[in-house]
Amino acid sequence: MNQEVLIKTVSRLLAPPKGILAIDESLSTCNKRFEKLGVPTTEEKRREYRELLVTTPGIEKYISGYILFDETMRQSALDGRSFISILKSKGIEVGIKVDGGTTDFPLHLGEKVTKGIEGLADRLKEYKKLGATFAKWRAIYTVGENTPSHDCMKENAILFAQYALACQRLDIVPIVEPEVLIDGDHDMEKCYKVTLDNLQIVFSELKEAGVFIPGIILKTSMVIPGKDAKVSASNIEIARNTVKCLKEKVPKDIGGIVFLSGGQDDEEATKNLNAMHQMDSLPWPLTFSYGRAIQNGALESWAKDSSDVACAQELLLKAAKDNSLASVGQY
Ligand code: G3H
Repeated sequence: MNQEVLIKTVSRLLAPPKGILAIDESLSTCNKRFEKLGVPTTEEKRREYRELLVTTPGIEKYISGYILFDETMRQSALDGRSFISILKSKGIEVGIKVDGGTTDFPLHLGEKVTKGIEGLADRLKEYKKLGATFAKWRAIYTVGENTPSHDCMKENAILFAQYALACQRLDIVPIVEPEVLIDGDHDMEKCYKVTLDNLQIVFSELKEAGVFIPGIILKTSMVIPGKDAKVSASNIEIARNTVKCLKEKVPKDIGGIVFLSGGQDDEEATKNLNAMHQMDSLPWPLTFSYGRAIQNGALESWAKDSSDVACAQELLLKAAKDNSLASVGQY
């Protein structure tokens, strides 16, 4: 493990005023989004859509890294240039989703653990050869009366530690993404407690396994009420609770923290990040790594008229710019 290389990659990814764009939807997630908008779910359509995301002019002003899915990592633009070479020519870091999705956690109804640890080292070696400098692994937690259970959080944390070590051994920066799902009617206090408990378990496993903390990035959900909660929360309340929770459990020497959007309204995700940067100074770099909250407008526009690539790219650029402004409290 070369700690200097890891730290340099982290600093390039988190240099203000930029953030990371997630375009790493698995085949089934991408196809579901296409189906909803009436787009054929073919490999060529996915390639065409990803080409517009990768070739958006000027996006490098706001985006430091793209997280890709295996299929996208191997695709090229119509002019023959690989997506990886296009991103690299813009100075954008290439990341790769390496988890294999989730599966049921035995004996725990409704709970999930992340798949994909088998053969991970070999896959990482290949991705590194292709040009990846960072990776992502996601675990999900459903908030319910008795969930997430300690056992489920612990199991996922053990996997996070194994994944992070495998990445760091190859000088690939691991993004550790524990996502407390927004589904449900739980209130913000419940989300706070679940996020806090889980971060405690995640960081204790990472440290015990010897993961180099300054060489990782935490990708987290915000502390937010469930989407069917009776009482909503303001941007300031979400920002205050999220930062308080993170300050309690995230080590000060972590490489940095980024947020997923997790199904929040696009503009709310931007405003929440902005509000966090308008508070007191923060102990770690903090920015965005949104998927939907940046892509939604572009995807809808392209689905309506796939010949008007420029319009979709403008929408993508605008969302990236807004979140860039939010990442320095200037939205
Ligand atoms: O794993 C989820 C993605 O990396 C972020 O996507 O912002 O749409 O939640 P999202």
